[in-house]
Amino acid sequence: MTVSERTYSGIRVIIGDADTIAQIAGRRIIEAVKAAPDVALAFPTGSSPEGVYANIISSYRRRAASGPDPSWSQVRCFNLDEYWRLPPWHPQSYACYMRTHLYDWVDVMPNNIFYPDSLAPTAEEACESFESQIAACGGIEHVLLGIGANGHIGFNEAGLPRSRTHIADLATSTILANSRFFETVDAVPKQAITAGLDTILEARAVTLIALGSTKASAVRQMLTGPPDVACPASLLQEVADRCLVCLDPDAAGLLPEQ
Ligand code: GLP
Repeated sequence: MTVSERTYSGIRVIIGDADTIAQIAGRRIIEAVKAAPDVALAFPTGSSPEGVYANIISSYRRRAASGPDPSWSQVRCFNLDEYWRLPPWHPQSYACYMRTHLYDWVDVMPNNIFYPDSLAPTAEEACESFESQIAACGGIEHVLLGIGANGHIGFNEAGLPRSRTHIADLATSTILANSRFFETVDAVPKQAITAGLDTILEARAVTLIALGSTKASAVRQMLTGPPDVACPASLLQEVADRCLVCLDPDAAGLLPEQ
């Protein structure tokens, strides 16, 4: 499929099939690692970025015979969010997701992997230590994002004031959407620690990937609505020049033609 490029609210948007946009998004991350071997990256979970991770891994493995190019041995990786009180060894924890989908397949060092500590004595301590870890790395260089059907990024739910890393009560729609990974809806944690909107917006580059028609309405609001916490992703318009949004045709389906 051919790739088309558009601009909405100053944000560069690429529309193509899922494989192609996953490759484009993956290439951005690989280039960031090549440009700065100790780059600080932040990653989301979910179905949408899986192809991006697969692309990064396959590129890494193709080159591994002659030594990894680029090596991830100095890269600092931040998980954007974590279910509160779900231990990192739980199969549905985001710590486990990121190990399975990326970290176990590249030479990232365990001490360079940071995630909100779901088992910290208090949520405040978990948030403070996550923010200090980001600050100690000089801030996040490149953040990859998915988007929730209600426009959330990380676990920054719609309509809440913007903030830094915090504990979030998950929206009912988010709990229902994520229940597909748990045995019952009741098993889905109701709270999560998430990098805040202000934490995310400080990243020096942003790549957001959205797949499928369930994201079309949130995508339209993100790109053509007013920047407002009612659709947290729309605040990316404030940092439009640092963003690339990668969409499949279904996710782009409600955007005005250009
Ligand atoms: C979760 C994550 C988000 C992710 C969203 C969408 O709520 N906290 O970071 O963007 O799911 O996931 P999916 O791509 O599976 O639709």
